[in-house]
Amino acid sequence: MTRLAIRGGTVITAADEVVADVLVDGERVVAVATPGSVPFAADTEIDATGRYVIPGGVDAHTHMELPFGGTFASDTFETGTRAAAWGGTTTIIDFGVQQMGGSLRAGLDAWQEKAAGQCAIDYGFHMIVADVNDGTLKEMEALTGEGVTSFKMFMAYPGVFYSDDGQILRAMQKAGDTGALIMMHAENGIAIDVLIAQSLARGRTDPRYHGEVRHALLEAEATHRAIQLARVAGAPLYIVHLSAQEALAEVAKAREMGLNAFAETCPQYLFLTVEDLARPDFEGAKYVCSTPLRPLEHQAALWRGLRNDDLSVISTDHCPFCFKGQKELGLGDFSKIPNGLPGVETRMDLLHQAVVDGHISRRRWIEIACATPARMFGLYPRKGTIAPGSDADIVIYDPAATQVHSAATHHMNVDYSCYEGRTTTGKVRTVLSRGRIVVDGDGYLGSAGHGRYLTRDTCQYLR
Ligand code: URP
Ligand code: ZN
Ligand code: ZN
Repeated sequence: MTRLAIRGGTVITAADEVVADVLVDGERVVAVATPGSVPFAADTEIDATGRYVIPGGVDAHTHMELPFGGTFASDTFETGTRAAAWGGTTTIIDFGVQQMGGSLRAGLDAWQEKAAGQCAIDYGFHMIVADVNDGTLKEMEALTGEGVTSFKMFMAYPGVFYSDDGQILRAMQKAGDTGALIMMHAENGIAIDVLIAQSLARGRTDPRYHGEVRHALLEAEATHRAIQLARVAGAPLYIVHLSAQEALAEVAKAREMGLNAFAETCPQYLFLTVEDLARPDFEGAKYVCSTPLRPLEHQAALWRGLRNDDLSVISTDHCPFCFKGQKELGLGDFSKIPNGLPGVETRMDLLHQAVVDGHISRRRWIEIACATPARMFGLYPRKGTIAPGSDADIVIYDPAATQVHSAATHHMNVDYSCYEGRTTTGKVRTVLSRGRIVVDGDGYLGSAGHGRYLTRDTCQYLR
């Protein structure tokens, strides 16, 4: 068992910022102490003077290898979790998928098989519920007891993952009874499909129309409906990938009423806009995701929501598709562009840039990227903080270094970067996953299979 001392860095958690030594024995943190105050014979000494020492990122929304639009997300569990480690994320929660007509159990088993022995960092699963029936509802209860405590449902994508209001209500009632959390993709997919058909019939086939038909009001309407259904069911609710200020207003209203309503947004909604979707020569396809990118004015509302906790988590919704051969499936028909963006490697850095830009504080950075996702999905304090007893998932971060983002240098298995050429301040230097150094400067020391499957408690915020 390796004993490791990280000395003299600024240790930042959601609660504190303190210059300290972090002492690690094997896989766990054993002390956070005033520098030099605790005698500790370490095998490895790391000088973190001038650096931040932060918990490894917890990305609660990724889709490695997701089948979508006739193809598969281009990161495997091996490549995607390696890229996550490079970017300072040490836990992901991905989504197993229930097939139509299939069981939740079969879906979970299939995703366990994809991930087993492949992951560089620890991982858990939510389940995508695509087919609500009596059997599914029973299985929700069983899986919750086994540590799969959250279930994603879709008000979008009719014919694929879509559930109607009755199905959603039934699943919410089950969640209300068992303490599970329903994660909602809140867009009115039935109305959107009408607008897609009308748009294509008018010859409006470019990627930019993806953003136009997925109207902000249809996100807000679905968010409102999901909240009311959750109220009727007596269930907590977590809205995923929220992008529209009108949808945020619905969440804010629910929270003001004291409801257990939570929401995440993603870096793409804070750093990219519809201008990117409108890039010429089909380049806009690189920015097609759902919910879609919004006009610039939505960003101020999202930053405000992040500061006042109406938005409590930043996840990536990492779901990469290569431009060549995958995004190109939608040439001449934006509705055939596979939905999703790469992001698992860039989240921690973009959020540090948000600190540099004055949008959020350093502690809020750690809260929304590490501590709250861990609490929301039942992993705290094992994950999401640096404290005695926590897993030694630790990032040593250089706040002064700059980097230029590029597909030529990133580690995600995708042929473009959404942030190509953009400079951000701050860089991951060293990453520990359960006490093992997996990234050291420019070197990768991790391995497929180091990452362990995580069973999770229920949401730790429910009142
Ligand atoms: O565009 C997206 N978000 N793709 C991934 C699937 C989903 O809806 O999260
Ligand atoms: Zn979604
Ligand atoms: Zn997603």
